[in-house]
Amino acid sequence: MKEIVSSGYSVWIGEKSLTKLDFLTYSKVAILVDENTKRNCLYKLPKFDNCTIIEIKSGEEHKNITTCSFIWEELTNNHFDRNSLLINLGGGVIGDMGGFCASTYKRGIDFIQIPTTLLAMVDASIGGKLGIDFNGLKNQIGLFNNPKSVLINSEFLNTLSDNELKSGFAEVVKHALIADNNLWNKIISTSFNDLIWEEIIETSIKIKNKIVASDPFEKGERKKLNFGHTFGHAIESYYLEKGTPILHGEAVFIGMILETELSPISKEDKNEIKNYILSNFTLAHTPNKSNLLPFLMNDKKNSQGKINFSLLNKIGDCSVDNLFAINEL
Ligand SMILES: NC(=O)c1ccc[n+]([C@@H]2O[C@H](COP(=O)([O-])OP(=O)(O)OC[C@H]3O[C@@H](n4cnc5c(N)ncnc54)[C@H](O)[C@@H]3O)[C@@H](O)[C@H]2O)c1
Repeated sequence: MKEIVSSGYSVWIGEKSLTKLDFLTYSKVAILVDENTKRNCLYKLPKFDNCTIIEIKSGEEHKNITTCSFIWEELTNNHFDRNSLLINLGGGVIGDMGGFCASTYKRGIDFIQIPTTLLAMVDASIGGKLGIDFNGLKNQIGLFNNPKSVLINSEFLNTLSDNELKSGFAEVVKHALIADNNLWNKIISTSFNDLIWEEIIETSIKIKNKIVASDPFEKGERKKLNFGHTFGHAIESYYLEKGTPILHGEAVFIGMILETELSPISKEDKNEIKNYILSNFTLAHTPNKSNLLPFLMNDKKNSQGKINFSLLNKIGDCSVDNLFAINEL
């Protein structure tokens, strides 16, 4: 089992990571699941008495205040006091929302993240961002707060759909491109099905952890994590508005191709990135830039009327705050 020390908590990685669950110091313990993690993941947790299972419906459409009310009600009705623990067993939706509910219940109780999707393992469970969607706006309400620990067992990925696995992998590719040339070389020289998840997850978490530790509230360095996401979010919103939503990672893969084009790197590197992504992942059609403009113009990061991109200086290195006027795209 490996330990990565983050800001005030540890990320444990490996088959034995679940043995780090320590309930004894808590008056009550609840586990938050959705129907998929209840069926596929809950049985892997150590058994203990007197634990409340709180089950919610899966999906981003349930990451909202109504579901939070239900979670707070369950905690209240079961007499959870301030010395209680909430364990979030699931993907990024469960982690973001469960962490938010725990951080606000009675002004904050402890929570532990047990991510069960690749995206949640390498991205959502690291960095302390918690929250829910509100009035159609993603992650509109939330806060920064860290869990007691993050426990990662890559065996949970065995039941995850191939699409969700590949979608989460977009964030691994992003981490390699912005910060780790060695990880990139490993990724492009290994067939997707032969990747050793535990190794990939550990390296990927170390990259995100280092970046967020240096800039916890996204003032500078942390913006590197936006590479691929400016176009990516616009593409995701475009398909959502069309009524044919695509997975986040699929949009980010297309976003990374478009933002690689804008990056001041060699033609060879651009081709290497584009060829790798296009030959390994099935992607939606890239919308015309004119169709993306309304979404780009509403991007939270915009400054001086320009679109703000994080771009590659070379493979494994990234710069932030590259401003482009609409007619320069
Ligand atoms: N906090 C952050 O820094 C951060 C970063 C990135 C993304 N996010 C958030 O993460 C969310 C997306 O997370 P996600 O991609 O994990 O989606 P998700 O939580 O919706 O999970 C995807 C699907 O997989 C199912 N599932 C989860 N684990 C499973 C398993 N082991 N086996 C079978 N099915 C399983 C879920 O029930 C769900 O249907 C978004 O809300 C996004 O805003 C947060």
